[in-house]
Amino acid sequence: MCGIVGYCGDKLASEVLLSGLKRLEYRGYDSSGISVNSGNKLSIIKKTGKIKNLRDAVPENLPGHFGIGHTRWATHGGVTDINAHPHSDSSEKIAVVHNGIIENYTGLKEKLLREGYVFKSETDSEVLAHLISKFYEGDLESAVKSALSLVKGTYGIIVMHADKDNELIGARNGSPLVLGIGDDEMFLASDVSAILAYTKQVVYFEDGEVVKVTSKGFTTSDLKNNRVSKDMENISWELEEMEKGKFSTYMEKEIHEQVESIPRAMKGRINEDLATAVLGGLNMTGRELLDVERVKIIAAGTSYYAGQVASYIIESLARIPSSAELASEFRYRNPVVEKNTLYFAISQSGETIDTLFALREIKRKGGRVLGICNVVGSTIPRESDGGVYIHSGPEISVASTKAFTSQITALYLFAIHMARMRDMSQSSGAAFLKDLNIIPEAITDILNRKAELQKIAEKYAHYPNFLFLGRGINCPVAMEGALKLKEVSYIHAEGYSAAEIKHGPIALINEKTPSMFLVPDDHMREKIVSNMKEVKARNGKVLAIAVKGDKEVEDIADEVFYVSKTHENLYPYLMVVPLQLFSYFCAMELHRDVDQPRNLAKSVTVE
Ligand code: G6P
Repeated sequence: MCGIVGYCGDKLASEVLLSGLKRLEYRGYDSSGISVNSGNKLSIIKKTGKIKNLRDAVPENLPGHFGIGHTRWATHGGVTDINAHPHSDSSEKIAVVHNGIIENYTGLKEKLLREGYVFKSETDSEVLAHLISKFYEGDLESAVKSALSLVKGTYGIIVMHADKDNELIGARNGSPLVLGIGDDEMFLASDVSAILAYTKQVVYFEDGEVVKVTSKGFTTSDLKNNRVSKDMENISWELEEMEKGKFSTYMEKEIHEQVESIPRAMKGRINEDLATAVLGGLNMTGRELLDVERVKIIAAGTSYYAGQVASYIIESLARIPSSAELASEFRYRNPVVEKNTLYFAISQSGETIDTLFALREIKRKGGRVLGICNVVGSTIPRESDGGVYIHSGPEISVASTKAFTSQITALYLFAIHMARMRDMSQSSGAAFLKDLNIIPEAITDILNRKAELQKIAEKYAHYPNFLFLGRGINCPVAMEGALKLKEVSYIHAEGYSAAEIKHGPIALINEKTPSMFLVPDDHMREKIVSNMKEVKARNGKVLAIAVKGDKEVEDIADEVFYVSKTHENLYPYLMVVPLQLFSYFCAMELHRDVDQPRNLAKSVTVE
């Protein structure tokens, strides 16, 4: 979703801003813009479309050593140059970039219009520029604070004034903001990827904080002018991890990276002698864990399906009732937060607003929430009571792949830990961990045979509708498969329990609606095979992911891709990777923008 970046230092601000915006492209956007100081006036350049359009519009060597930039994902007002950020006040001395939504903007705008302020755009964000201008009497920081005290909603903002050489004001409430500290230069951004090329030293801000930045230093305070002291942190990601390397798209790269990212999620977390997992970040004593009577997982998108897989595994291994729920629904239904329920918030980005607000709702009601996140220092892990970082490395492709398998890995480890505290024997624990350890090998085998999936994808990419069908622990995997296909290829797909098709979806079956069946050799296999026959009997094309040696599936299905045999609870890994590749190849066949699909954003920071 929208990205923001700010710079002050010796470099040409336009270059730093454009390179930062390029790194923020992955978040999803439809227009972009920058503002730099050129003497005592601002040069503001904004363009719809890709960053390249903006770069073409920015004069080479545009003078100016401090400035702000933005990638916009439209919410209020269409995709136009004028609606793109930065927004300025009428004097064009003040410029603002904003992530989030000003919920009371209509009332504020009406009042400003009555007072004679003239608006250029249809956005909620422009209100901020005029409000700051209204309060400005030579001190930008206090004008920003006065303006923000009237605002309801979420924001991550950076503000500059043409007369305030070398000064940026940043503030956050619900949308992320990070400061990068260089040598006599400072950066502000919505996420570290925009500044990683320049510095690894960062400071993260909390909601309600305002930072005043110059090239030499910064001060942080709250809206009531209390000073806040901040700690510096180091980013562990390397710049190379953010490059595509030998792959043509990030999605392909990230699918392949799972062979390394799954072991990374387990690294240092297995105690082989005791056949259990060790998760120090949970911040819970053995006694507290024993008191857990229910596990509830809150998440959105792909993370939600990872949560559903995890809830099966926690219930099956640890025998603790467990379920996953969409964060967006959970937060608004006045949820009952039970004393002995342990909550998990899963989020790759650590910034998804629905998940974050659900977490806050649980904490407000006295519940304990653990985070399962990838981006270190992001808001959800910082606000959680503990948790597990999945250490997948940067996930740039909008469609999530490697985060899914690492999220389930973290929760498989949690399940093992709980199971071993309860009634799982040491030998069963050891056997499970042994099978888990060889999952990367089985994924390598899938990747080595990806050409088979490419062939199937090329044959079926032109079908308009798909069903993805699984049972048990692979039911959420089928839903994730359908989501992946929708996201990157724009083919309509529905994920369902194979058992449920008789209650509706079977009406869709005809020769133009193929069904992708997930057929592990578990206790549900026979039932799924019957469902396949039902589809075949109605002239539906049947595609299947099955286990090597299962010849019966080959007889029924039009296409089969085989995966290795594993523990029945570990099939989600081996089922999801072929589905990721299938979606990827369908999207390539249809010439889609695989890494930045239309209308989607990597990190959804508005409701
Ligand atoms: C967006 C992304 C999805 C992601 C979802 C949840 O919709 O496009 O890929 O699964 O947000 O994101 P999170 O960062 O919370 O896992």
